[in-house]
Amino acid sequence: MFVTFEGIEGSGKSTAARLLVDYLQERDFDPLLTKEPGGCPLGRTLRHILLDARGQSVSSRAELFLFLADRAQHTAEIIRPALEAGQIVLCDRYADSTLAYQGYGRGLDTEFLRRLNDAATGGLVPDITLFLDVPVPCGLMRAGQRNKEAGTVVSEGRFESESLIFHKRVQEGYHALVKEEPERFAVIDASQPAEDVALQCLSAVEKALRQRGSVL
Ligand code: TYD
Repeated sequence: MFVTFEGIEGSGKSTAARLLVDYLQERDFDPLLTKEPGGCPLGRTLRHILLDARGQSVSSRAELFLFLADRAQHTAEIIRPALEAGQIVLCDRYADSTLAYQGYGRGLDTEFLRRLNDAATGGLVPDITLFLDVPVPCGLMRAGQRNKEAGTVVSEGRFESESLIFHKRVQEGYHALVKEEPERFAVIDASQPAEDVALQCLSAVEKALRQRGSVL
């Protein structure tokens, strides 16, 4: 089963994903946790270019194709083989990030982006997408705090240094995507403490597994 995590900066995806791995392992599953950008060797090289706030200028279209190159390689090299081996794959960001950030955030046409996502992934769509919903100011505050603690204020800050309005457009984009595909998305209240957020994720995944006849 293919599970993706989506949400704005500071929504707590990475923490929730790590806790969900523990919960699934306790239940005798062998999940694979991965992320975009940077879930495969080529992607880690691309990630530096994509997130470096001090690097050379990158146009919206160039940025788009770098994310798609990362996704194409990651899907072929990591995600598909794990799914074929029967693993639950948990991916921190995937194709919906492109729709939310490059589409709603940067203003590229979302139908065009859907076709490109499809081409990059060979049509691989998540079984369930956990959307961690948090108010934009709260997410940005958490992300700023995290960067300060990690000392990554500048080098990994290209998106975090975008305006509040940009992040609001991204958030509105996610809400529109949830409305379009309510059966694929599970909306998680990410303003709760991390443990609660992870438990909400677990119950959404449990429900999806039950629907597929895999007992948890
Ligand atoms: P990352 O440090 O992984 O951020 P987060 O912890 O918020 O997931 O950085 C990924 C950044 O790249 C994030 O700001 C969202 C952005 N992004 C896109 O704009 N388009 C995409 O397709 C993907 C996968 C990520």
